[in-house]
Amino acid sequence: MPIQKKITIAIDGFSSCGKSTLAKAMAHDLGYIFIDSGAMYRAITLFCYKNKYVDEQFIDEEKIIKSLKNISIHFEYNSNTSKLEVTLNNENIEKEIRNLTISNLVSKVASIKEVRQKLVNEQQKIGENGGIVMDGRDIGSVVFPNAELKFFVTADPKVRANRRFLELNDPNVSLKDVAKNLKERDFLDSTRAESPLIQTEDAIVIDNSELTQDEQLLIALKYHKECIDYLTQFPKKK
Ligand code: DC
Repeated sequence: MPIQKKITIAIDGFSSCGKSTLAKAMAHDLGYIFIDSGAMYRAITLFCYKNKYVDEQFIDEEKIIKSLKNISIHFEYNSNTSKLEVTLNNENIEKEIRNLTISNLVSKVASIKEVRQKLVNEQQKIGENGGIVMDGRDIGSVVFPNAELKFFVTADPKVRANRRFLELNDPNVSLKDVAKNLKERDFLDSTRAESPLIQTEDAIVIDNSELTQDEQLLIALKYHKECIDYLTQFPKKK
């Protein structure tokens, strides 16, 4: 049997739509690498927050841009969770980046052109050999415009808020706080000047409001199989 070609899979969509869940499950099933590009934007935001370059009221873009050369972001494998976890200057910060403080600041930092250039560059390097599932906002449009398979994942805003609320499981954070954060990030992520979140024409839309994780995965894997069958029949010219 011929060795199955490893392709690039781009998954985009608004915050808390279940993109990472789908990306992780697909990667696991297909033996691909999974990269959560949002974790990279969160890591830079954590660095900026700790250095007081950004908070709720203020942002010092000049200092952020100057500090980019001192920021190194990598992924390390955690054998307990079987997951790649993000490191910032060699420190594992996977947990810290998920709190609401960072969620409230990340879209501001992610709108800076130089921040995006640095991360897009690194994401393209990580994915240069294919066999990758990456989720984010600009993966199908900017990072991997030639990805063989692209998904745009959506879900009802109420369903999204509820899912993130349960996931956070923080007694100090209300469902209303989470819903407000999602609404603000949706607005910032889709209206920013630099590579805003868009649904590319060639992306397959999956609305998972009423789907279980397994149902969503089965749908995506069906499209993956169709894509591989097509590429086997009509290989892409180099
Ligand atoms: O996927 P996430 O919610 O962890 O992403 C956090 C933020 O990072 C999101 O609000 C927008 C930004 N982001 C981005 O601008 N581009 C990406 N490819 C991924 C995330």
